[in-house]
Amino acid sequence: MSHVLTAQAGSVLEVTFNRPEKKNALTATMYAAMVDAFHRADADPGIRVVLIGGAGDSFTSGNDITDFQARSAAEAASPAASFLDALSSLATPLVAAVNGAAIGVGTTMLAHADLVIAARSARFVMPFTSLGLVPEAASSLLFPALIGHQRASALLLLGEPIDAETAHRWGLVNQVVADAELMATARGIAARLAALPAAAVRQTKDLMKNGRPDVAGRIEQEMRLFRDRLRSPEAAEAFQAFVEKRKPDFSGFS
Ligand code: COA
Repeated sequence: MSHVLTAQAGSVLEVTFNRPEKKNALTATMYAAMVDAFHRADADPGIRVVLIGGAGDSFTSGNDITDFQARSAAEAASPAASFLDALSSLATPLVAAVNGAAIGVGTTMLAHADLVIAARSARFVMPFTSLGLVPEAASSLLFPALIGHQRASALLLLGEPIDAETAHRWGLVNQVVADAELMATARGIAARLAALPAAAVRQTKDLMKNGRPDVAGRIEQEMRLFRDRLRSPEAAEAFQAFVEKRKPDFSGFS
């Protein structure tokens, strides 16, 4: 069974992270499947909206930590890089339906979505510093702009989690609904968007995104630092602690 499912409903392409036994943690293969789905959406005039969500009780727990470990050892290129490029340049409107854990890139990708619907169970966390890492997906640029510097600091420096209501109050999500209503609500919004004149919708999205500062440049800048941080001893300790289900010990690192 594929770890990313795609299904077309009318002119909406539904893309579902489908690795519930690992809380939909994202692997290189899953990033590649997402890139394909985004490219397909932009190339096919029959697709007017992309709707992303997660199977099971989570949106996604972020990058697979065991993949991080393998990559830091191999010094391989980031499989997330092409995903972030495709996500940040996606011309088709993107709706996100978020339930349960939205961790790391599970939260940062939402700054690139156009409409975000959250279930009450949604919990947003960007624990980059506690993993010895720095933010990605231009979140260091987009989150301060979206929710204000101090709130972004709580999320990105402290790695503080927030619930759905707080995310709604801070402007990160459009609407909070009961878990049982999440997909119906998100599908309703996607269908409303899809019924509007497609060119006008895409051009409006483009106009709003054009007003943003240099997102691609920030993604690259973050990625350079991220790559270095991945190879740091404190990141290695954080990843190993996760695998061993224990608290990390950073006392030996300056
Ligand atoms: N990478 C790899 N595996 C992950 C994962 C991730 N990001 N998130 C969850 N998993 C795995 C767990 O190791 C566990 O595997 P196992 O059953 O083989 O032991 C399984 O998914 C279920 O997770 P578990 O931690 O038992 O569930 P939980 O309900 O107690 O907690 C989370 C769920 C998402 C809060 C917790 O798993 C978590 O904090 N994950 C790490 C998130 C993270 O730091 N992501 C990186 C951001 S940059």
